[in-house]
Amino acid sequence: MSSTGKVSQEGKGTKTVFTLNTGDKMPGVGLGTWQSKPNEVREAVKNALQMGYRHIDTALAYGNEAEVGDGIKDSGVPRNEIWLTTKLDNPWHKRVPEGIASSLKDLKTDYVDLYLMHWPSSTDPDDLKKHYPDWTFTDTWREMQKLVGTGKVRNIGVSNFEQENLEKLLSHPDTKIVPAVNQIELHPNHPSFKLIKFNESKGIHSTAYSCLGSTDSPLYKDKTLAQLAEKKGKTIQQCMLQWGLQRGTSVIPKSVTKSRIEGNFQLDGWELTEDEMNTISSLEGRFKVCGDAWLPEGVKVFFGNDE
Ligand SMILES: NC(=O)c1ccc[n+]([C@@H]2O[C@H](COP(=O)([O-])OP(=O)(O)OC[C@H]3O[C@@H](n4cnc5c(N)ncnc54)[C@H](OP(=O)(O)O)[C@@H]3O)[C@@H](O)[C@H]2O)c1
Repeated sequence: MSSTGKVSQEGKGTKTVFTLNTGDKMPGVGLGTWQSKPNEVREAVKNALQMGYRHIDTALAYGNEAEVGDGIKDSGVPRNEIWLTTKLDNPWHKRVPEGIASSLKDLKTDYVDLYLMHWPSSTDPDDLKKHYPDWTFTDTWREMQKLVGTGKVRNIGVSNFEQENLEKLLSHPDTKIVPAVNQIELHPNHPSFKLIKFNESKGIHSTAYSCLGSTDSPLYKDKTLAQLAEKKGKTIQQCMLQWGLQRGTSVIPKSVTKSRIEGNFQLDGWELTEDEMNTISSLEGRFKVCGDAWLPEGVKVFFGNDE
C-alpha cells in the first residue's frame, strides 16, 4: 500500500501547513461552504481569498461548486496558490469519472488538490433510499485510486470514516493508496481523540468539519469557553480554531459574513497555553451535528466509540 507514513505540521496560526502522506502541503485553515446560501458563497470565497485564505472546502452535494468557482475567479488569486477540496457524492459512487468531471466543470478548474469520498455510503441514484446491493465504499475507493496520476486530483481521501470502516478499507486487497485525509466532525463537544490518534497512526491527516459546532452552535453559549476567550481578548470562534490547529487538525470554518470570515483568520501572533488547551479539551457536554440516520437503511457510519 503506498503511503510515506507520517503527517507533519509546521508553522503557526494561519501559517500552519500540514504535509500529507503524499508529500503535498495543505494550508491548515480553509473556508467551509456547506449551507452557504445561493448568491452568498461566491462573495464569501472571493472575500476569504482576498483576505489571505488559501484553502477552500466544497462538495458536489452542496450544490454550490459553480459559485465557488466564480468566487475563485473573482478573487484574482492564481489557482496554483489555492488548495481546493471537493467531494464525491453518495449517488455517484459507481460513476467516479463522471463525478470528478462534473466537479471540475463547475469549479472551472483542471484539477482539485483533494478529492474526498464524502460518505462511506454508496447510494442508488434511482432510489436514494437504497444502498447498492453489489457495491460498497471499497469499490468506490478502487475507482478513486484510478484518478491519481490523471492530473485531475492531486490527493484522494475520505470523510466520515470511523475506525471500523477505515480498517475495512485499509485491509481490503484492492486498497493500494492510504487516504491522505479523513475529514470528520471535530469540535470541543465532539473531540474524537481516539479517532484522530487512529488516523495519525495510519498516516492519515484529520480535517475538522463543523469545527465551530455548525449552525446555531451551542458552543457559542458555553460559559467556560466565553471566560477563556474574554481572558485572551479573542473571540470564542478564534479560540476554537486555534485549539483545532494546535492539536494537529486542519480547520475549515464556514461563514458567509465578511467580518466573521476576517475574524476567523486572525489566528497569528498568539497561542493557547497547555492549560488553556486542556480547558477546551475538557468542556462539559457532547453533541454531534451530522448523523447517519438519513442514509439508506443498513448503512452504519457512526459507531459512537471515537472519543
Ligand atoms: N465532510 C462532511 O460531511 C462535512 C459535514 C459538515 C461540514 N463540512 C465542511 O465543514 C465546514 C464547516 O462546518 P459547518 O458549516 O457545519 O459549520 P461551522 O464552520 O462549525 O459553523 C458555521 C456557522 O457558524 C457561524 N459562524 C462562523 N464564524 C462565526 C463567528 N466568528 N462568529 C459567529 N458565528 C460564526 C456561521 O454563520 P454565517 O455563515 O452566517 O456567518 C455558521 O452558522 C462546512 O462548511 C463544510 O465545508 C463537511
